[in-house]
Amino acid sequence: MGIWFRQVLSRRPTWVNLLMFFSAYMAIVYVPWDLFIKPVSADEEVWFGILFHGAAAKVLAVPHWLVYAAMAYGFWRSRPWAYPLSALYFAQVAFGMFIWGTFIAGGLGGFIAGVISGGAFAGLTLALWNERTNEERQTLKQRYGDWALVTGASAGLGVEFARELAREGVSVVLTARREDRLLALASELEKNFNVQTRCVAADLTQADAVDRIVEAVSDLPIGILINNAGFGHAGLFEKLDGARLRDMIQLNCAAPVLLTHALLPAMRERGRGAILVTGSIAGRQPLPLHAVYSATKGFDQLFGESLWGELQGSGVDVLVLEPGPTATEFQEKAGEVAHGGAPARDVVRLGLEQLGAQPSVIHGWFNWLRANAAIRLLPRSTLALIAKQVTATRVDPKLR
Ligand SMILES: NC(=O)c1ccc[n+]([C@@H]2O[C@H](COP(=O)([O-])OP(=O)(O)OC[C@H]3O[C@@H](n4cnc5c(N)ncnc54)[C@H](OP(=O)(O)O)[C@@H]3O)[C@@H](O)[C@H]2O)c1
Repeated sequence: MGIWFRQVLSRRPTWVNLLMFFSAYMAIVYVPWDLFIKPVSADEEVWFGILFHGAAAKVLAVPHWLVYAAMAYGFWRSRPWAYPLSALYFAQVAFGMFIWGTFIAGGLGGFIAGVISGGAFAGLTLALWNERTNEERQTLKQRYGDWALVTGASAGLGVEFARELAREGVSVVLTARREDRLLALASELEKNFNVQTRCVAADLTQADAVDRIVEAVSDLPIGILINNAGFGHAGLFEKLDGARLRDMIQLNCAAPVLLTHALLPAMRERGRGAILVTGSIAGRQPLPLHAVYSATKGFDQLFGESLWGELQGSGVDVLVLEPGPTATEFQEKAGEVAHGGAPARDVVRLGLEQLGAQPSVIHGWFNWLRANAAIRLLPRSTLALIAKQVTATRVDPKLR
């Protein structure tokens, strides 16, 4: 716990940590007290140097709460928008302080007080604005090393992982079954980003595939492992093809475990590395008509988050990326009726951005709500039945 807390604090300078705790205090204690306990008649809020009383002040406490909650969350999760947002907010405070001192308090004393207090907040604004680039200072290559290995790199999220890693100067080992696609992507990456690549065609449902991949990269210092290959198979459990279900368990569960087991010791020895497992929001809850898939993704979730706990303080970061529906070949391969999805690149960027910041991350606020609020508020029986209704609309009628 202590190691984890120190690691969380080490991500940003002390003054930003203090601001983060202050924002959390404002969001959890002060503004709720202001909002719900303070009598309306006694309420006062200042925005842009204008003093609001009573009901108007009550209403304006809401944006105050939103800003402080967003700041506390954004700093905690190292979200890049946290710095411009807080800089904007404190610029408003600086302006308000100056206006307040100069025009409301008035006189020379008021002007001096306005300049001093406004200047202090203007300084904070500037520091936050400058810090936004410092947060982005370290590239993935600087943090984790020269080489990454991406499974499922012939389509969808895997292609985007490879592109985003290469964009940051990381050389990439690409693996999947369709070698022609791997070779085409490899030459694209080499040409566009001037990185090295290596293609290893392998079927990860085969017993010797992991050993072959590990052998093929034994001379490379793999610093980032993206366990991404996976597929779903939608329909009523007893109507599905048993061999395909076995392959799914092998690919979605056994392959990430075995690859991680093989490549982790060298990362530990180097004292740095990253392991990303592509899970799914389907792993958070029972999903009738996708029963085995949701179980495999639940496995990935627990595996990744447990490993995150084990590896605290080792320098090796672990993240489970949990996409919701994403625009890839997944739906077609799973036998689902096409239903759109988020751009794969956005999902991948979130995953790479959150490496080292938390054990798991869900893409998209609606997916977050589904995966968190619904699961905590509804009984699991209700959840399973609602999920069945939704999934049924996406499954081939012959397989329902
Ligand atoms: N798209 C979504 O809506 C969604 C949502 C949540 C989670 N996910 C997860 O995201 C990950 C990536 O899926 P995607 O959406 O990018 O799907 P995709 O476009 O179908 O890509 C799947 C990748 O896995 C590879 N693969 C499949 N079977 C394989 C095997 N036997 N051996 C080696 N590689 C294999 C495929 O390559 P080859 O066919 O060339 O082998 C392909 O590169 C999966 O783990 C999936 O569960 C997707």
